[in-house]
Amino acid sequence: MPVPSPTDTLPQLGTEKRDIETPAVLVDLDVMEDNIKDYAEFAESYDVSLRSHTKTHKIPDLSHYQDRLSGGGGICCQTLSEAEVMAQAGVSDIFLSYNVVGDAKLQRLVRLTDSLDYFATLVDCVEHVAPLQEVAAELDVSVGVILEIDLGLNRTGVVSQEEAVELATTIANASHLSFKGVMGYEANVKSFAESKEGLERLCTEAMDELAEWVETIEDAGVPVTEVKVGSTTTSKFSGKHPIVTEINPGMYIFNDVGEINNRGFEVGKSDCALTVLTTVISKPTPDRAVVDAGSKSISMDKDGRKPIPRYREDVEYVNDSEEHGWLDISAADDIEVGDRLEFIIPHVCTTVNQHDTLVGLRDDMVEKTWNVQARGKVK
Ligand SMILES: Cc1ncc(COP(=O)(O)O)c(C=O)c1O
Repeated sequence: MPVPSPTDTLPQLGTEKRDIETPAVLVDLDVMEDNIKDYAEFAESYDVSLRSHTKTHKIPDLSHYQDRLSGGGGICCQTLSEAEVMAQAGVSDIFLSYNVVGDAKLQRLVRLTDSLDYFATLVDCVEHVAPLQEVAAELDVSVGVILEIDLGLNRTGVVSQEEAVELATTIANASHLSFKGVMGYEANVKSFAESKEGLERLCTEAMDELAEWVETIEDAGVPVTEVKVGSTTTSKFSGKHPIVTEINPGMYIFNDVGEINNRGFEVGKSDCALTVLTTVISKPTPDRAVVDAGSKSISMDKDGRKPIPRYREDVEYVNDSEEHGWLDISAADDIEVGDRLEFIIPHVCTTVNQHDTLVGLRDDMVEKTWNVQARGKVK
């Protein structure tokens, strides 16, 4: 474990925003709560389950909160160790939307299954299914299984309906596996959509396609009771389709520059709950300032997207190195060393994974702090 240092002391409750040491990851609690309620209300109106992805925040307390507000739809995890952290913290309903390979991990997975009220894992080939059945039989535990269908993302998932029928049948006939249904992660459509209407049309088309796969599997005699889909950008369109039983958005709790770009029709700066608070540490020229947050505090993993200032339009974050963020301040004449600037970040999930702590504020005062308990849990 990392050696503790004085900076590991959490800001005390009641601390004013202006007194928080930087760089710090801030969460506006009012905005976060509104974001969670927004998707929960959507799910309720369209009679679809909301199982939020906890890969975004990796904090059990927030998983419990999302689960409660969404009427007990459970949570989604992307790594086994993330799921183990959530289970240890009392979350009892988990879908692991990832392919688990290797005996040691399968042993962990099956033991985890046994401790939960609901658990399902993801497969897309016989090389996943056969070893899982073997370990489940050895430990005499029944494991829930979801079959992944590739709807065009070209990542994981079966690519032919014949293969899907064959695998679904194999799973359904396995003594220690329980075939629960399918997942189709249609996030690929966001790169093609040019408008809200376009996004809705592409999501509907993807769900129509998924419905055909489901029909083919059911025609082969295997009931498909769960149909899981959705990212933050797509869930509120895909989730309207009658074939879908569950949506799995992650980033909606916080939003980020990516979501502003994808869903500009409903997401603006004021809908982004998570920001990184920085301090201007240098102003070498009148048109250049440097803040104390570079790529080690703000993940820059997405296609050249840059952080954007939360409360200003006249400052541009133009470049980064590990601990430095270059700002173009040629349009701003009031920036000085020691000033504090807050940025909406390119990608929340990978940024949170770089930090020990999130600081929750209401009315610019610390009301809550969280340890990012599943931070770095990638195994
Ligand atoms: C399978 C799966 N489902 C859901 C999500 C959540 O998507 P988002 O974080 O865009 O809401 C992800 C994100 O990577 C994913 O891989």
